[in-house]
Amino acid sequence: MLNPRYADLPVYPFDRLRQLLAPHDPPDGLEPISLAVGDPTFPPPEAIRQTMTEKAELWGRYPATDGTADFRDAAAGWLRRRYNLADEAVDPERHVLPVVGTREGLSLVANLVVPPEKGGGRPLVVMPNPCFHAYMGAAVFAGAKQRLLPATRETGFMPDLGQMSDADWDRCALFYLCSPGNPQGGIASMALLTDAVLRARRHDAALVVDECYAEIYGRRPPAGALEACAALDGDFRNVLVFHSLSKRSSAPGMRSGFVAGDPDLIARYRMLRNFIGAQMPHPALYASARLWRDDSDAFHHRTAYQKLINLAEEIIGERYGFYRPAGGFFLWLDVGDGEKAALALWEKAGIRVLPGAYLGQTDTHGNNPGDRFIRVALVHDKETIEAALRRVVKVL
Ligand SMILES: Cc1ncc(COP(=O)(O)O)c(C=O)c1O
Repeated sequence: MLNPRYADLPVYPFDRLRQLLAPHDPPDGLEPISLAVGDPTFPPPEAIRQTMTEKAELWGRYPATDGTADFRDAAAGWLRRRYNLADEAVDPERHVLPVVGTREGLSLVANLVVPPEKGGGRPLVVMPNPCFHAYMGAAVFAGAKQRLLPATRETGFMPDLGQMSDADWDRCALFYLCSPGNPQGGIASMALLTDAVLRARRHDAALVVDECYAEIYGRRPPAGALEACAALDGDFRNVLVFHSLSKRSSAPGMRSGFVAGDPDLIARYRMLRNFIGAQMPHPALYASARLWRDDSDAFHHRTAYQKLINLAEEIIGERYGFYRPAGGFFLWLDVGDGEKAALALWEKAGIRVLPGAYLGQTDTHGNNPGDRFIRVALVHDKETIEAALRRVVKVL
């Protein structure tokens, strides 16, 4: 009755956290604060409310899988601006497709690109370890074997592509890269992205780069995979990038993102989504287009996250291997035993954080590179984050 692959799913990280904390109470008299979920809490842009009202009659019409020309044009325009791409480099009609939140889009893409066999064996879906959990679920349901590449301090918080043999690259059907990375906050250099594009092409794999935190960064805007393609030969072959309004515009509830890249993969992905994907409703398409055309919210949120990271640096100092994430809004703190620390923070301070192990997986040597860590999401106003971090350092 049940797809046997279901049994191979790891426990969902936030269910695991609930199971860990449920038997324990936070201390009396302290308001619990969650730093566990990366759920931005800045108010969503006013443009959403306005557009939803203006376009309300469109709730009565089925949307198309490829959205509207307005949406595709806005997304393509943003890609050109953000990554200095030439006008002709991004064709909104061939290179861009909306997705209803990138989590679903990132997972579903595995159904498109993972064959039953590749390179003489069971195909590999390669991902950083630890990583955003959607990639794990995607690999399991595509029937692939997961290949984990450590993304640790030693590797610059990005996977080391040279760790994989040519034989493994031949078996690789899908390579997930995440930059800026969740949870570690590392960013992929142009050299890494270029290397990944070339390897994906050489071994006929799909390189899927999750760039959802592309607008949340410190000193420099992180390079993007399409930028790497443009610098190489202008061809997006084998490459897809995912972008989201959840972090950029602090609008995770709208479930709005897009995928861009290889026109052949985009055409086939559109067909797949025609059969099994959700479409973005018209009012959300119009509101999203407005947001992709306006960079002021992204600037505002980026600045606000940097201030929270400054505050964290002030409070935490050099403890727990603190470093400023190059991108994103998570702290990745080395506390020795992440699960034990998460439980202590809950019981003694009413603070929820995610044990790093829940975003990692145990490798063939029996190591989970997330074991020693907790992930701390800086997603509240300054006062709340300050109060929360003061409690964290008191307990740890
Ligand atoms: C790395 C990464 N990718 C993708 C997503 C999914 O974002 P959304 O589905 O809201 O677009 C998240 C959300 O937390 C994330 O952290």
